[in-house]
Amino acid sequence: MGRYTGHADAVVRPRTTDEVAAVVTLCAAEGVRICVQGGNTGLVGGSVPPSHPDGSRPTILLSTARMTDVDEIDIVGQSVGVQAGASVATIDTAAGRAGLMFGVDLASRESATAGGVVATNAGGVRMIRHGNTRSQVLGIEAVLADGRILRRWSPLVKDNVGYDIPGLLAGSEGTLAVITGVLLRLVRPATGAEVAVIALRAVDDATALIGAARDAGLTIEAAELMTDAGVTLVHEHGGRRPVATAAPFYLLLEVSGTGGVQDVLLGVLETADGVLDAVVEPGPGRALWEVRERHTESISRSTATPVVKLDVSVPIHALGDAVADLEALAGSRDHRCRPILFGHVGDGNIHVNLLDVPPDDADGLTEAVFAVIAGHGGSISAEHGIGRAKSAWTHLGRSAVDLATMRAIKDALDPQGLLNPGVLFG
Ligand code: MLT
Ligand code: ZN
Repeated sequence: MGRYTGHADAVVRPRTTDEVAAVVTLCAAEGVRICVQGGNTGLVGGSVPPSHPDGSRPTILLSTARMTDVDEIDIVGQSVGVQAGASVATIDTAAGRAGLMFGVDLASRESATAGGVVATNAGGVRMIRHGNTRSQVLGIEAVLADGRILRRWSPLVKDNVGYDIPGLLAGSEGTLAVITGVLLRLVRPATGAEVAVIALRAVDDATALIGAARDAGLTIEAAELMTDAGVTLVHEHGGRRPVATAAPFYLLLEVSGTGGVQDVLLGVLETADGVLDAVVEPGPGRALWEVRERHTESISRSTATPVVKLDVSVPIHALGDAVADLEALAGSRDHRCRPILFGHVGDGNIHVNLLDVPPDDADGLTEAVFAVIAGHGGSISAEHGIGRAKSAWTHLGRSAVDLATMRAIKDALDPQGLLNPGVLFG
């Protein structure tokens, strides 16, 4: 994105958990700060070291790039143990060979790592079907800030002994411990999947269509919203237009079921409101998915200034109004910029990308977007996390008591404040 820069005094690339523990033990003794980096695909600066080195405390960058082992798949238990640096694509390919799949998928799958998606509790395009990354975590191995190794690694489906520490480390953004391995739940792939891109008149037509598909007995595997501005931008960067008819909005819908899925889907499309055109392909429908997945890179290549990227969610009934308000805000006299909105419409999650924003307006515009979202009862971070980008605004999403509880956990687990300084707490 070109928004975040940082400074590290050294890079360490451990191969094993014991090596990570040795590094962290040394850092704890010397007061050295540690920025953990997986695939470096996060969008809130959470894997970038602080930009202003604190003279008294050096910073190392701890890369998990060499920790790529994937254990044998447990087909009966539907799980796999992986090292933190294994990529999402590698895990999914290994699961696929055993007739299973990893329930987390996102456009950065080739680079994003197990440790990264767990540390950020990534969402992605399959969340509507299989839940967030936290819900795929059965066990975890992590090095605590003092160098001790914590390993809770039980494939038991029922194991209710005390605090959910794997659940706590999922989404902790590297601030509580260095995740070195994860025991992941695997899921069964969809049968008979069909992928459609549907040209629509309005956002509310998309949510109604998703409901109608469910009512018709289809399982929603993914539901992604795009706008004409986004599809046109991807087209300018070599992508194809998915449907012949231009429309204000497009819904990428992947559905599955048993028998006659395409016929059922076509029946839904014929009776739904606001459908201007549609293309349906049997799964995996990669050519249709490509249009959606090329949004992020096309945006980064098209903006004169670093993109202001906000990742918000609103209750699904408020989506249509929220999108209209956000587009109006971007075009207003105070904050004139180019908006590209897209996202996981089935989860109420909109990625607000604001291009060509004058740098001195980035914070003002961010606050204006958050005000719109608050007005609709939404969240300032749906799936990307807080990182450095949103640390000034956590009070908009959590109460003072909630934030103080988070701080107490941070202080208890990392009393010297060495792990991912500047992330989450600012
Ligand atoms: C996506 O859904 O493609 C990602 O969250 C990336 C983005 O928001 O740019
Ligand atoms: Zn997303």
